[in-house]
Amino acid sequence: MRALLNSLSKHLLHHQSWSGYWEPVVQCFKPGWREGYFRAQVKHVQVFSEQSVELVIEPEKAWPVHQAGQHIALTIQTNGRLLTRVFTIASEPQLARQQRQIRLLIRSQEFGAFTSKLTNLRSGQWLNISEPKGQFVMPNTARSLIMLAGGSGITPFIAMLKSLPADSKHTITLLYYAKPNSHWLKDELEQLKQSLSNFDYHLLERNKDGDATTWLTTNAHKHWLVCGPAALYKQAAALAKQLNTPIDSEHFSAVPAVLATSDKHELTLTHQGKTFTIDNQQTLLTHLQANKQPVTVGCGMGICHQCQCVKKQGIVRDIRTGELSDSSEQLIQLCISQPVSDVELSA
Ligand code: FES
Repeated sequence: MRALLNSLSKHLLHHQSWSGYWEPVVQCFKPGWREGYFRAQVKHVQVFSEQSVELVIEPEKAWPVHQAGQHIALTIQTNGRLLTRVFTIASEPQLARQQRQIRLLIRSQEFGAFTSKLTNLRSGQWLNISEPKGQFVMPNTARSLIMLAGGSGITPFIAMLKSLPADSKHTITLLYYAKPNSHWLKDELEQLKQSLSNFDYHLLERNKDGDATTWLTTNAHKHWLVCGPAALYKQAAALAKQLNTPIDSEHFSAVPAVLATSDKHELTLTHQGKTFTIDNQQTLLTHLQANKQPVTVGCGMGICHQCQCVKKQGIVRDIRTGELSDSSEQLIQLCISQPVSDVELSA
């Protein structure tokens, strides 16, 4: 039935989906409603001096409560565009169950296309979130744990530690690397140390304390959990392999992009489960048509929005303005989007 309605809306209403067509109407009495997303209401936004933003939101009742360590995709609308970023939930599941609230701690990049918008959010506003995702949760193991965090990678560990009962038998050591004077939540870590009998932590700086090799090597008999930049993970993963130590991780890395349009570069485009080799010279619409992919097209110049599509990941350039997109999920128009990195579109 839904497929039929979507097909009718494409042909008769020139809109990608039936529910999308009615979205503005539904939003009049249900603010922030979007098909395929959960709604959440902003309860509190606080900007901290060390360039981080704390966002407390109240997900709608239907939202399935997360496990400590999981993340969500957060979607906001800005200038008519939907922007999505993925953030780990920095609060324990009990808070979501008892008060229907979750906390996100986000590194605020002043000129970042997404995070700079968060500081403009106000209490009571609605935004959209995904269901909780990810497998980075407390492992079921009898071994002691080493938690290795880099920068904002502290957030899943805060959620995990806060979800532990005071009489937890887990012996946990947290190694937390950050730039000088940039460690987040020092007070909360100290409180956790006071309340959990088998927990200890070390605030480390790479310049002063060196990398994590010595710490990890002397704790090879424990189970390692790593969250932080890709370089931190690579180092830990290589050691874990060498020492035959169990390791779980969540890590982030930048999407490599070709920023100059003058030189031709080969990239990949994934669409409906198929991957094509494309270049950075033409629009995504041209590439999809050249590969005989089904697309809805109208004006071909960014006006009618009929070629609208969800980019799951990758960076595209708006050929009218030269503006680069974010690397994560976002609504784009195929006819005016030129790839500058490998791109994946939604099915
Ligand atoms: S075809 Fe009209 S906006 Fe792309």
